[in-house]
Amino acid sequence: MTEPYAQFDKSNDKAPIVTFDDVKVRLRNFRLLEIILAITTFVAVVICVILAGILASKSGNVENNAPSSSALTGSNICVEAPCLKSAGHALQNMNTSVDPCNNFYKYACGNFPRFNPVDSEMTSNTVYHTLYHENEEKLKRILESPVERDQKWSFEKKLKDLFSSCTNTYYKERAKGSPFINQVLPKIGGWYVLNTMNPNTWDFNDALRKTHVDLWTRTAFFTTRYRNDLKMYMRRVATFLVRDSNITIANNTEQQRIETFVNDTFEVESRLANITAETVPTTDPHADEMRLTLVQLTEKVNNVIDFTAFLKYIMLNNYLVWRLAYRYAQEMSWEYVHANREFYVDLYGRPNFLGTWLYCFYYMDRNLGDALGSLYVKDHFADKNKDKLRKSSDKMGYPDFMVDESKMDARYEKLNIDNIDYFTNVLQINQFERADWNNLLVKREDRSEWAFHTYDTFMSYANYWNEMIVPAGLLQFPIYDYTLPHYWNFGSIGSLIGHYYIHGIDKFGEFKNWWSNYTNLNYEKARKCVEIHYTNKTMGPYTVPGNTEPVTTNCFNRNDNTAYFNALRGRVSEDLRTNSVVSQIQDFSTAFNCPKGSPMNAEQKCNLF
Ligand SMILES: *[C@@H]1O[C@H](CO)[C@@H](O)[C@H](O)[C@H]1NC(C)=O
Ligand SMILES: *[C@@H]1O[C@H](CO)[C@@H](O)[C@H](O)[C@H]1NC(C)=O
Ligand SMILES: *[C@@H]1O[C@H](CO)[C@@H](O)[C@H](O)[C@H]1NC(C)=O
Ligand SMILES: *[C@@H]1O[C@H](CO)[C@@H](O)[C@H](O)[C@H]1NC(C)=O
Ligand SMILES: *[C@@H]1O[C@H](CO)[C@@H](O)[C@H](O)[C@H]1NC(C)=O
Ligand SMILES: *[C@@H]1O[C@H](CO)[C@@H](O)[C@H](O)[C@H]1NC(C)=O
Ligand SMILES: *[C@@H]1O[C@H](CO)[C@@H](O)[C@H](O)[C@H]1NC(C)=O
Repeated sequence: MTEPYAQFDKSNDKAPIVTFDDVKVRLRNFRLLEIILAITTFVAVVICVILAGILASKSGNVENNAPSSSALTGSNICVEAPCLKSAGHALQNMNTSVDPCNNFYKYACGNFPRFNPVDSEMTSNTVYHTLYHENEEKLKRILESPVERDQKWSFEKKLKDLFSSCTNTYYKERAKGSPFINQVLPKIGGWYVLNTMNPNTWDFNDALRKTHVDLWTRTAFFTTRYRNDLKMYMRRVATFLVRDSNITIANNTEQQRIETFVNDTFEVESRLANITAETVPTTDPHADEMRLTLVQLTEKVNNVIDFTAFLKYIMLNNYLVWRLAYRYAQEMSWEYVHANREFYVDLYGRPNFLGTWLYCFYYMDRNLGDALGSLYVKDHFADKNKDKLRKSSDKMGYPDFMVDESKMDARYEKLNIDNIDYFTNVLQINQFERADWNNLLVKREDRSEWAFHTYDTFMSYANYWNEMIVPAGLLQFPIYDYTLPHYWNFGSIGSLIGHYYIHGIDKFGEFKNWWSNYTNLNYEKARKCVEIHYTNKTMGPYTVPGNTEPVTTNCFNRNDNTAYFNALRGRVSEDLRTNSVVSQIQDFSTAFNCPKGSPMNAEQKCNLF
């Protein structure tokens, strides 16, 4: 269940740094080495980039050839615009008053926090956050720009119409609760509170099916949230619905009916919660403990709804209406949205919300990601970018169908979107999504599918399909740009890709033991060396525990709480990792003239390469 208008954390939810698909449960010990391997590649090229940056900034020597790594030789210095842009980017983050032999990370990234503050809504800030927000800006411009292909069947028109209907508060305010009253309630046979439901003829099975399938709620009987805070929210929503229905309830019993509605719903939810509490010690829906036979489930549900028929139907009607109101309240006018916000403040104590624009943006992201992604690659991902990457069999940039307008139109053929009536659009989108799910059930496995949106800012190595996915959204400056010199791209996206490929062959990607004893032995030796080097180093404020979480990033900034909890969890921060790696590389010490035994020139090197 999404709670879209609720609070969010910019840094945690919406700007994931590079994520690891398959890492979770695998052997922790092996992480040490893979981090070192990855960072070694990364750092080696960071050094190149910084050298190039310094050279480019200090020299007036003009060289007109296309940018190339010859810039490193000193005699041929690249002063092309892309070189200057990237050099400026690197220089801005550097603190050149720090001695690189003493603390290379501070030297390379010392100024990053100044330009990338951590505000109160964030726990950290990295280059991926910047990238994410820049992409968001690009998507915003796309969504708000005029429709170019203005035909009824154009996916672009559907996308932009849906977005404008979502942000159009004028029509939402005018309609108030009536879309729910006119389009949802009749489907499930009316509502007890409005006196539009007849308990003698009401068909529970039909109402349940429609709640789940036609109205695509999917949560009735599967989600419980019984807390006193919820009663207030139910009462508010019910009061608005009664008012907006224009129905006069005989003998002024609406208050009483609303209370019955609240009590009934609460009763059903608490009974459901009771079942879940006794069966399920975990929240993981796939855990073994969650598995019930159909007979067991029926028994349990029968216990929940064990009332005399008449009361049972009123109670169940109230419960289903609440599940629907819970799902649809936020798609209605401001009062309903606001009631939801009050609920969240009661629950979390933080008045921290998405505005309408972000709410609608996330709605588009969740529901029309392919359409949005198609326009994104058209505007922000040059074909040359893809050509450069095409040699690989992996998923780079975007799937081909995304740039084929007729295929994209066909993808959304069954979706009808109105440019004003948002609520009806939401119902349409739900049916569209439902059809997608149905297709998934009948379709064979399709390896050309992409698990990501093209504008996502993270990448992954999917061990189960043995493939890398790098969306166009990540392939943006400063991570990748085909106009930049090779050393820049190798240093950023190249090192990330190297890092992920290693997962394909290391213990993370291992489904059976296919390493030879010889390889295993040497790997173990190298791993041990790295571990000893790594453990107990106190370069930062915290002692590094024995194991680490792999997180790859460039420069970073995070608040003290996050830094502290990372340390507690054994996540070694990037500065320590970067410094540990460079201190292992002889070429680094040579290039920077670091005296033996200085912090960035370890006496004993593990000789991984
Ligand atoms: C840069 O490094 C110097 C020397 O360590 C330090 O005094 C200064 O505060 C640093 N500047 C920033 C912005 O951190
Ligand atoms: C209630 O009356 C108003 C004003 O006439 C109307 O706009 C609204 O659609 C009506 N509500 C319903 C649920 O029909
Ligand atoms: C309203 O109250 C009158 C008298 O108390 C009663 O006869 C009637 O049935 C009530 N109507 C409803 C709909 O409850
Ligand atoms: C609702 O429940 C409360 C507490 O269980 C009870 O005092 C109240 O009478 C109930 N109201 C209705 C309308 O059933
Ligand atoms: C929940 O379970 C406990 C223990 O079985 C029982 O005492 C309590 O009445 C149940 N509550 C509801 C709402 O069913
Ligand atoms: C590899 O090591 C295992 C256990 O250490 C041993 O049983 C096996 O014979 C070794 N294989 C080879 C080819 O040496
Ligand atoms: C790390 O420090 C602990 C306690 O000071 C010590 O027992 C342990 O042997 C050290 N580990 C290594 C690899 O040096």
